[in-house]
Amino acid sequence: MAHVRISPIHSSLGAEVTGVDLSAPIDEPTGRTLTQALAEHLALVFHDQALTPAQYLAAASVFGPPMEQHYSQHNMADFPLIGLIWHRNGQQPAEQWHTDHTNRERPPAATILYGQEIPSAGGGTSVANMRAAYLALHDDERRRLEALTTFNGLDGHADTRPEDQDRYGKPVEHPMVRTHPVHGSRAVYFHISKATHIAGMTPEASRAYMRDLLDRMIRPEIVYHHAWRKGDVLVIDDRATMHRAHGDYDRSQSRVLWRIIVEGDRPQLV
Ligand SMILES: [Fe+2]
Repeated sequence: MAHVRISPIHSSLGAEVTGVDLSAPIDEPTGRTLTQALAEHLALVFHDQALTPAQYLAAASVFGPPMEQHYSQHNMADFPLIGLIWHRNGQQPAEQWHTDHTNRERPPAATILYGQEIPSAGGGTSVANMRAAYLALHDDERRRLEALTTFNGLDGHADTRPEDQDRYGKPVEHPMVRTHPVHGSRAVYFHISKATHIAGMTPEASRAYMRDLLDRMIRPEIVYHHAWRKGDVLVIDDRATMHRAHGDYDRSQSRVLWRIIVEGDRPQLV
């Protein structure tokens, strides 16, 4: 096993991993260490990585099988399991707090981002610990959320391909509190713009309640802000966090991240 070191970088979540070269094959004990570290720390940072698309996909597979991304118009031509996050192809930075691809029956266990081109200032990614957010709620609200489910679909980008709409636009129901399959803890789980509604509530009331939850739950002390350096790999545990991009950078500069999502379990509350 490589000399892996996992060092927390924030009081609530996030750890830096050193001693792993993601361009080389990852042995099984190291892979287990990394998946356990992700479940515990919820965000892992690897600096100074130099990866080809194929090496990046191989490394990401340690966290689960890479899955297709539904906005396929932004996927890398030769490696369609890698999505390009790049404002110059018409995307807006995803500044709303969210977790990824909740319109899938088995949504991603993790979102993995690799910094290719980084603006000189701004353009960071923030990650919020929704396990801590759940624990900070009052008992009665925790019980209320544990009884609620969301219905999820695509969130309607104008350039969505019809085939993606057909494959990934069907309603999928998920609990608003889910148990982490590795860690065993609970976290608040929803995507405010992919959730069409909460079961038993109107879309308007659902949206207002989710907005209110985000405003109350995501406090600075449970947020790790990642300021990108070229060559960084950031692994985000989608089962117990939300994340957002920051659009506070000069758009004449380039910000390019390669994104892989890896399949996880069907969310459940146990
Ligand atoms: Fe995202």
